[in-house]
Amino acid sequence: MNTILFLLLTSCGADPVVLQGDVVGSCAYTSPFSGEPECTEFYGAALAQAEEVCAGYDVDLRVGEPCAVEEVLGTCTYEADGYQVRTTVAGSDGSKCGSQRFGCETFARGVWTPAAACDGVDEIVVLEDPFPLPEQVCVDPLPGEPAGASEDGEVCTWQIVSGATEEGRSFSDYADCDVIRRQRPYSAAPANPRADAVDPRMEDPAYAAEVDWVRDQLRAGSCDCCHSAVAPDGPAVFDADFEGNLLNQFNDRGLAMGAGWIPTIGFGTYLPEENNGFERSSPEDPYLSIIPTTDQARMMAIFEAELEHRGRTIDEFDGDLYGAGPLDAQLNYEPERCTEAEGVDADGVLRWAPGRARYIYVLEAGATSPTVPPNLDLPEGTLWRVDLPREGSPVYSESVTYGQVPDGMFQVHPASGAPPALVPGQDYYLYVTADVLYPISRCVFTAGEPAPSGCSSAGGAGGFAALLAGLALGRRRRRS
Ligand code: HEC
Repeated sequence: MNTILFLLLTSCGADPVVLQGDVVGSCAYTSPFSGEPECTEFYGAALAQAEEVCAGYDVDLRVGEPCAVEEVLGTCTYEADGYQVRTTVAGSDGSKCGSQRFGCETFARGVWTPAAACDGVDEIVVLEDPFPLPEQVCVDPLPGEPAGASEDGEVCTWQIVSGATEEGRSFSDYADCDVIRRQRPYSAAPANPRADAVDPRMEDPAYAAEVDWVRDQLRAGSCDCCHSAVAPDGPAVFDADFEGNLLNQFNDRGLAMGAGWIPTIGFGTYLPEENNGFERSSPEDPYLSIIPTTDQARMMAIFEAELEHRGRTIDEFDGDLYGAGPLDAQLNYEPERCTEAEGVDADGVLRWAPGRARYIYVLEAGATSPTVPPNLDLPEGTLWRVDLPREGSPVYSESVTYGQVPDGMFQVHPASGAPPALVPGQDYYLYVTADVLYPISRCVFTAGEPAPSGCSSAGGAGGFAALLAGLALGRRRRRS
């Protein structure tokens, strides 16, 4: 048996990591997410598995060789399909530590271990330009356009990705697309190449009219900002200003989202009566189109017909439940138990992982994780939520007591009065974020437990206890 056991214990009760088995090899590459150099090692993996991951980064696996990185920000260790991966993030710029830790914990669901360059400076904080919250913008109609539907004739539009202006108008005329492009990533992306061919179906006026209707519906939604000629670097995949058949620009999976075959609830939505009559996929009705529309049946029928035209069937998308990708991953996140450094103490003081908060939630255990406004940021089971105004200074761990609104923050839930007292011995869900979609701590704690005696004494959790905790951690990760 030549199994090696490494035990890495970070300070202050962070999860210990146990690496098991031989390193089968490593590969070095530039991360497509952060643009920074990284090196990844594989433990207990089959050669083919490791080779496949490296090939995904366009590099070869160096069989049997560990990483050799000179300047290190930290390492991220996580479980993949039955094996362990340790990624070493190269660099010396301490300002990148917080985002590297966030990427590790939130996207890889790994354990971040800071190197000296990041020790104590890997806090997760958003000091400038936080996520813009939805704002209802009301303005006079453009010259030549009819009066708006509001009482005084103005056109009112929710300025957020899930918002839509009035039917027949363009979103970019009535809301600020720069704000929208701060709320979700934007880059140009090529259309499906089938759109290059002339499509004889466009000669049928009835068919062409349906394509035009989809175009108009897209223009009324925020989609206009990234999926039309308005997009500064060019449209992403499909283009409401495309002269040919815009439906041919979609990829098959995009069509399936348009048809409501893949749920896209993770993007968030308004009720149609709040959104100029536009409706889309929601937790209440997941199998609706991703496209906000005034006529769901018509929209879904158009996209279903396109899928049928391409020979695709609904059962091919059966297991594909998460059209919103990373947003769904955050929405469906199932918290683990808090580490020693996280939780709410018997005296009500909140503690979270290194970072400074803009949003603080205490929820019932088992509540859905909060994500984006307007409909996914106050889940059922929220007991207490306090927010920081945009211009506020993010708050430190151990400066907030449950139920007492901290200076500079405001209480969102309950709408008034104190939240229910926490019942000692009962489990709750602590959710603290540096910004919308930017969690610092997401974990379950038991109310009424005293604060640990201090982080420097974390050695008490070392040795055999930490080894067991590490193995349990490995088991939990493997299941997910
Ligand atoms: C801030 C920019 C932005 C906005 C606003 C936006 N999208 Fe997108 N969308 C993208 C980008 C970038 C991609 C391609 C990469 C990806 O899939 O994330 C994309 C891809 C898609 C796809 C997959 C297309 C395919 O066939 O591969 C669909 C469907 C889609 N968007 C629908 C919408 C709808 C509907 C709206 C309006 C409610 C919308 N998007 C608003 C940026 C945006």
